[in-house]
Amino acid sequence: MTAVPDPPARTLHGRRVLITGGSRGLGAATARRLAAMGAEVTITYRQREDDAAAVVADCAASTPGARAEPLDLLDEDSVRSLFERITERDGSLDLVIANAAATAFKPLLDLKMHQIDKTFTITVRHFLLIAQLAFPLLQPRGGRIIAVSGADTVGYIPGHGLLAAAKAGMETIVKYLACELGPQGVTAVGVLPGYIDTESIRLMAGPFHDKLLAAEEQTHPLRQAATPDDASEAIALLCLPEARWLNGQIVQNDGSGLFAYMGRFGQAWAMVPDGQVMPDTTDAPMLGGDAPH
Ligand SMILES: NC(=O)c1ccc[n+]([C@@H]2O[C@H](COP(=O)([O-])OP(=O)(O)OC[C@H]3O[C@@H](n4cnc5c(N)ncnc54)[C@H](OP(=O)(O)O)[C@@H]3O)[C@@H](O)[C@H]2O)c1
Repeated sequence: MTAVPDPPARTLHGRRVLITGGSRGLGAATARRLAAMGAEVTITYRQREDDAAAVVADCAASTPGARAEPLDLLDEDSVRSLFERITERDGSLDLVIANAAATAFKPLLDLKMHQIDKTFTITVRHFLLIAQLAFPLLQPRGGRIIAVSGADTVGYIPGHGLLAAAKAGMETIVKYLACELGPQGVTAVGVLPGYIDTESIRLMAGPFHDKLLAAEEQTHPLRQAATPDDASEAIALLCLPEARWLNGQIVQNDGSGLFAYMGRFGQAWAMVPDGQVMPDTTDAPMLGGDAPH
């Protein structure tokens, strides 16, 4: 059993949460964290029923009522029948966390049409369907939709063009949901993690993963590579009623890794050992002084 350190106060006591893709990675860590905060958690899985059952056991140890449901986001009927079951059984939800994702990591010109269709089906078409089906369950309780986006919408990541395009669509849907559902008491927010050390990123990075991990540990402002549990912290904050005024925001949950990455040249300078003279830039044309213009 994976324990969540120092469980926070049971601030989500009595809340019903649906998390798509909760069998592993960020979804599993979020499920465990929210259950530790008192939420009654339903996770979905596509293939890994056993992994999902293990996550449910961890969650149920914190808060009774945890369960796992099959869901294939490529299949419209599967999405509809999930919500039929939830409606029949519970009749309401407080939080829906759209976390599950799958795509093909390839340069844009190498993508096949079916890969484009599948990525947009999971991330855009059926995210919107989830919002439509969840709304009547969320509305009576003033609930919230939380969509998990990714760093590839704000910076280039090799092979991520397709997923980034779909996630950018998802982010836009979040902003429109915020405006359209807000007057009816339902809020929507996006969360945008940076690197998270999950199975899928290890698969994506292949032989380069060790380098990627080392780069995070050496250059990230927090000097570590985020674990799924780390990344779940901000999602838990977004689940609190007090996050209502973040309606429509895409909250970067990357420990400032993306901003720091853009400042890598400055960081290289900061690593000049103490006592070593910094490069003399007084003659640089952009810095004024006596330099010719
Ligand atoms: N890892 C990162 O560095 C990172 C960074 C930024 C954003 N994100 C985002 O964070 C979220 C979680 O990422 P992760 O790395 O934790 O994911 P992951 O480890 O790859 O887990 C994916 C989850 O989605 C489920 N899933 C896959 N295909 C599905 C389908 N067709 N229908 C329904 N469920 C499906 C999987 O179910 P099974 O286990 O049953 O296959 C699993 O539970 C994703 O939205 C991802 O884009 C990740």
